[in-house]
Amino acid sequence: MHVGVLTGGGDCPGLNAVIRAVTQSLIRDAGARVTGIERGFLGLIERRVQPLDSHAVSGILHQGGTILGAHNAADPFHWPGNERGGDVSADVLAYARELGLDALVVIGGDGTMRIAHRFQQLGLPVVGVPKTIDNDLLHTERSFGFDSAVAVVAEALQRLETTARSHRRVMVLETMGRYAGWIALEGGLAGGADAILLPELPYDLQAIATLCHEREAEAGFTLICIAEGAHPAGGAMTVQAHLAHSPDPVRLGGVGEALRAQLQPLLASEVRSTQLGHVQRGGQPTAFDRVLSTRFGCHAAEMVARREFGRMVVLRGDACTSVPLSEVAGGSRRVPPDHPLLRAAASLGISLGRPCG
Ligand code: F6P
Repeated sequence: MHVGVLTGGGDCPGLNAVIRAVTQSLIRDAGARVTGIERGFLGLIERRVQPLDSHAVSGILHQGGTILGAHNAADPFHWPGNERGGDVSADVLAYARELGLDALVVIGGDGTMRIAHRFQQLGLPVVGVPKTIDNDLLHTERSFGFDSAVAVVAEALQRLETTARSHRRVMVLETMGRYAGWIALEGGLAGGADAILLPELPYDLQAIATLCHEREAEAGFTLICIAEGAHPAGGAMTVQAHLAHSPDPVRLGGVGEALRAQLQPLLASEVRSTQLGHVQRGGQPTAFDRVLSTRFGCHAAEMVARREFGRMVVLRGDACTSVPLSEVAGGSRRVPPDHPLLRAAASLGISLGRPCG
């Protein structure tokens, strides 16, 4: 059996641990030959692959990024510059046949799974593995990379606290997460934020200013953790409006600095903002993410060996299982307004926004 492995979309801590687990399990348990596809689907378009064996995946468990390389926008069904209106999927399938691939393990987010599903429908057997630091993929309770991102946010808040306390400042920290607030919520809780602002709960600027005033008098400083998709009540585009403007991933960011500029005239304290950006995606995966990635990789290899194709590995409770690829693509899992972590935050007096509507 000959199996291809690719990492689609952006990089994420834990990708190498998945590649290692898939490769080792397929070689040991299924006697398979494994080939790595370089830079996601771009490797299948441009015909760039590398053999993966025990030696190639040795020592990569703890490494961030992906040894196979990443490419955000390599979609064989929309690839500019060919005479078939951007559809190079037939060439990709021909190349997969030339390589003699019996199956493809695709590690990626919802966009990558959409492409994987189309190839499955065209006859290339696929197993998907969910990847995103945002933790917003449908059907899986966790995706690897999220715990690592949360750890970075928590550490950043701790570091901001010592300087905020010394200068009696308000510190605004902007996290990633796209349209979901999971990173800001868990990172904010772990790092001791006084306000946590999520896309799911539009915030009230005046309420944030009041919180900062109260803390000016008491603690002397305030830590605000804001997700990149957050917005003031009635003040910003909804997710649907955003997506209607552009079906492609929308470049988010800058909401922390915008909040700083709005808060400053309302406060006596100085307000500063920090945008963490890709720091949250770089570096080593946490121990939790290494274990989750390893479990996902081994489960994907078992599915290939059992020929359970057209499905993506998911975590349900504490068990790895799978769902059809058709159910995964094109949706995201956002923080529900009754989530227990929101109740915990409210009990601690952490300022949150309010649900829409
Ligand atoms: O989906 C993961 C993510 O890191 C988001 O949190 C962020 O909005 C986006 O990707 C950034 O993408 P890029 O690396 O293309 O700037």
